[in-house]
Amino acid sequence: MFMRTPDRMILSRRTFLGGTAGSALLAALPSRSAQGVTQGATHDYRLALDTASAPLVGGTYPATDIWAYNGTVPGPEIRVPQGSRLRVAVENKLAEATTVHWHGIRLPNAMDGVPFLTQTPIEPGDSFVYEFDVPDAGSYWYHPHQRSFEQVGRGLYGPLIVEERSPIQVDRDATWVLDDWRLQPNGQISGDFGDFRDIAHGGRIGNTVTVNGRVPDTFAVRQGERLRLRLINAANARIFGLDFAGHHPMVIAIDGQPVEPHAPAGGLVVVAPAMRIDLVLDFMGQPGQRSAVADRFYERGAYHLLDLVYEPEPLRQASLITPIALPSNTMPEPDMAAAETHAITFDGGMMGGLISAMMDHQRVSPQEMMRNNMAWSVNGVVATGHTMEPMLSLRRGQSTILALNNETAWHHPIHLHGHSFRVISRNGRPTAHREWQDTVLMAPRDKVEIAFVADNPGGWMFHCHILEHQAGGMSGVIHVA
Ligand code: C2O
Ligand code: CU
Repeated sequence: MFMRTPDRMILSRRTFLGGTAGSALLAALPSRSAQGVTQGATHDYRLALDTASAPLVGGTYPATDIWAYNGTVPGPEIRVPQGSRLRVAVENKLAEATTVHWHGIRLPNAMDGVPFLTQTPIEPGDSFVYEFDVPDAGSYWYHPHQRSFEQVGRGLYGPLIVEERSPIQVDRDATWVLDDWRLQPNGQISGDFGDFRDIAHGGRIGNTVTVNGRVPDTFAVRQGERLRLRLINAANARIFGLDFAGHHPMVIAIDGQPVEPHAPAGGLVVVAPAMRIDLVLDFMGQPGQRSAVADRFYERGAYHLLDLVYEPEPLRQASLITPIALPSNTMPEPDMAAAETHAITFDGGMMGGLISAMMDHQRVSPQEMMRNNMAWSVNGVVATGHTMEPMLSLRRGQSTILALNNETAWHHPIHLHGHSFRVISRNGRPTAHREWQDTVLMAPRDKVEIAFVADNPGGWMFHCHILEHQAGGMSGVIHVA
């Protein structure tokens, strides 16, 4: 895979603080939010959006002003059983409008949280109640879909876990919500959201990486322990490629959907923005051992993320040998013989070959796009805030193949709302696992085919999840009726 170096170096807490690293253990998120109240099969949560502050860097470093759900980053974990109903009352105390998108959940269109397409935005001081069933188990997340390049970038996101009816046997279930931030020397977020250089290049890459809202030091484990680790990438633009040196992570789910358990290709667990990877890790090191987890996705941007630290007491001598394959979810299987194929081409960005594109029904040059802070097109159209006419209309129940063609010099994690799809081929070769995903990472010049049954009626966003690319035009609507 061709990897581009980010233009900013990672600051660890050590370099950030000039050598006064703390050593607090990275705390796992609480397994159930205090706000969650179980009521039969409907689970009620309350999310209030407001400004807050968080000790992202920690130690003696000043807290960072953020925007948050219920005052914390990540926002509270929502955890519900598969097949139950989730009801979330959202109250907007911010000074700007918002919506909440439940990324990866196959829900009714009116609950999808896309401003102007599925609902009017939630204005400051207003509330909105989302209510829907959760058909599939897995790791999901929630985030705003209104000016998401800034709202997500300032800290608005949280994990949404749907529990299997019959889970696999593990000793611990932990979530690492990965993010990066562009912090100034005073620890505050740099306000240059929507900068055109970020839009036209690889998006807003930060200089400070956090796990569950903290620059991490260590993560405690025990010899013999089996961990289910849910990785959620909430960053605007950074792609992670985690190397658990000396350990053998097994991938058991991608974007919440079960996959045949397998070791990650090349030993790197790649998690692009908005993607989730569930791992099973069996810790077979010795008590007291420390072992580094590094992020090596970018060629010259590798850095040390944290240390796994073995506690003095082993949990057991030999690892568990119980099965780690997850039970299947409920997506209908696309009928490949009857499937209709539609080509979708992504163009634009720096070092691309875009000559012109349609923007607000007018043919424009790349220079004209740039004057409007736009840089990307999908099938020749630059999506502005007003582009909500469908780029593609599908008949409900139609088995569909989308042949995606990345004509750009950049990576793009492409996300479809309301459905999960199988990734069936990459550059002409069938994929090893026909993975179900809702966000597929395309490398520069990649050709990827995805297949799904268009079974969920409504208008669904189809966009790059590098949030600056989305804002810069790399977005469209697929309509199912
Ligand atoms: Cu996670 Cu359209 O978004
Ligand atoms: Cu992109």
